[in-house]
Amino acid sequence: MSETTTEPSEEAVRVREMIIDDLSEVFHIGEMVFTADYSQSLYRTWDEYEITTLFNSDNELCLVAEQGDRVLGFALGTTVKKHNSPWKYGYLVWLGVRRDLQQAGVGERLFREMKRRMREQGARMIIVDTSADNLPAIRFFEKHGFNNKQEHVYMTLNLTRKTKKKGAKK
Ligand SMILES: CC(C)(COP(=O)(O)OP(=O)(O)OC[C@H]1O[C@@H](n2cnc3c(N)ncnc32)[C@H](O)[C@@H]1OP(=O)(O)O)[C@@H](O)C(=O)NCCC(=O)NCCS
Repeated sequence: MSETTTEPSEEAVRVREMIIDDLSEVFHIGEMVFTADYSQSLYRTWDEYEITTLFNSDNELCLVAEQGDRVLGFALGTTVKKHNSPWKYGYLVWLGVRRDLQQAGVGERLFREMKRRMREQGARMIIVDTSADNLPAIRFFEKHGFNNKQEHVYMTLNLTRKTKKKGAKK
């Protein structure tokens, strides 16, 4: 699937809440940016349930950036309360900008509005996660003040292969 190249436009970019009519465009932009390669080390994969679940539970934290009637990118978030913590956290689950429009400030516009809304909802900290090799995203988040980078280890167990238990008798 290929994206059409965008001609420079004079129309202003605006960020607004996602509506039901945006779902398919958001889904397709996500398919272009969250490829299998992107999510191979993540436990989450981009699919229609990701959008609809967040859209149903956290509509105010589902945003799109648009120019004219074209969606340029989106941000989908939620808030979480951790066990044993009085704090409410904002969790920015997905942030994606059309490839041909990246590095033009769209992600920043989306993030700023998301941050404002999460703060308004009482969140005291925002969490993001991405793969360790996604340097553009890591640079983006660092630029916006994220720190305290923590590495996680993901492991897989192939259930289709028969394995011998370690130490088991022959
Ligand atoms: C991460 C992402 C949302 C940033 O959106 P964007 O519109 O390109 O970001 P902005 O133009 O607002 O900000 C640009 C900044 O982001 C970082 N950045 C974005 N693309 C980059 C790239 N290709 N290489 C290095 N840094 C990059 C830099 O910090 C840059 O600032 P700088 O030029 O001053 O160094 C976008 O790259 C994207 O959609 N990536 C694929 C999906 C993804 O990884 N999402 C994040 C995890 S959910």
